[in-house]
Amino acid sequence: MSGDTRAFQALAATVGESITARLADVEQRLTEIVEARDPGATAPALVTLRAGGKRLRPLLVLTCGAIDDATPEAAAALISAGAAVELVHMATLVHDDVLDDADLRRGKPTVYAENGRDAATQTGDMLFALAFMELTASGDSAQVRALSDASSGLAQGELLQREDAWDATVTRERYLRRCLLKTARLFEAAAQLGAHAGGRPELAEQFGSFGSKVGLAFQLADDVLDVVAPTEVTGKTRGADLLDGTVNLPLIVAAERDPALADLDLRAINTPEQAANVCDRIATTGAPDDVLAEARQLVEEAKQMFGPEISRAERQVLSSIADQAVGRNA
Ligand code: IPE
Ligand code: IPE
Ligand code: MG
Ligand code: MG
Repeated sequence: MSGDTRAFQALAATVGESITARLADVEQRLTEIVEARDPGATAPALVTLRAGGKRLRPLLVLTCGAIDDATPEAAAALISAGAAVELVHMATLVHDDVLDDADLRRGKPTVYAENGRDAATQTGDMLFALAFMELTASGDSAQVRALSDASSGLAQGELLQREDAWDATVTRERYLRRCLLKTARLFEAAAQLGAHAGGRPELAEQFGSFGSKVGLAFQLADDVLDVVAPTEVTGKTRGADLLDGTVNLPLIVAAERDPALADLDLRAINTPEQAANVCDRIATTGAPDDVLAEARQLVEEAKQMFGPEISRAERQVLSSIADQAVGRNA
């Protein structure tokens, strides 16, 4: 069983069987959308889709849309919105692997590694286009605005990351700004889409704030996993951030504690073995544990963001998803 599958099952156990069944509907919709295109053009997209993934963002759409209590029309809108968000996520992963020069994703060679830069660029572009085709069918401009805002934020975040690449003096503030853009914005949009598609637009703002905090925590946890978790668990190369010059929070914190890390020349890290050695050194400072504690703190703050109109049962489901965002191991 892959790490992703395990993580997905843990989520399913958290939110219950009926939401899990609805996630299967999102999965089916995703397959329909991608398979409806010319197979020659969509082959790499289909490989990415079939490689799995935690489907955390669609899960947020469905739960923020209270799909269990939704009308059939609202349920269909939520499934469609969930598919659209996952398509944007997949598009950004395919593009991100080009920018990060990454070889592994979801335990398989990246589209970039397997098919080259041009194919990965076009596959990502196509996934973006399919996402918006799906969402515009809703006829709801609030949903389209939320997803397009997140998509442009994502691109801005990736650009900021390239600007800061190889720069060991990157500040925590700049790091947080980057993560808010490249990751938290899509979580925010997923939660907002849930509110809109589920027919509760008045909850979009508070759910969006919740999603943004959870998304930021999720990226902090991802950066910790990059340092501490083996490939068999994450499906990605350990130390990938170091190899592509990305200065993440575990490194920023570790460099404050270990002068050798503060003087590190990132360009001298060229092999997975060298990256793993630096990861070990970062881990020795205790920085990964402290960053994970920060991520947990963000999750606790996220849980405090619900107004009195959110029921106890709903809070519990959303809180357990937030916990999974930092408690996951893949
Ligand atoms: C990876 O996201 C990209 C980040 C924002 C860190 P996920 O960890 O949700 O990727 P999948 O969908 O489960 O593969
Ligand atoms: C998140 O950052 C990238 C996206 C928002 C697509 P990472 O570069 O850390 O994500 P992974 O580790 O490659 O999944
Ligand atoms: Mg990456
Ligand atoms: Mg990462």
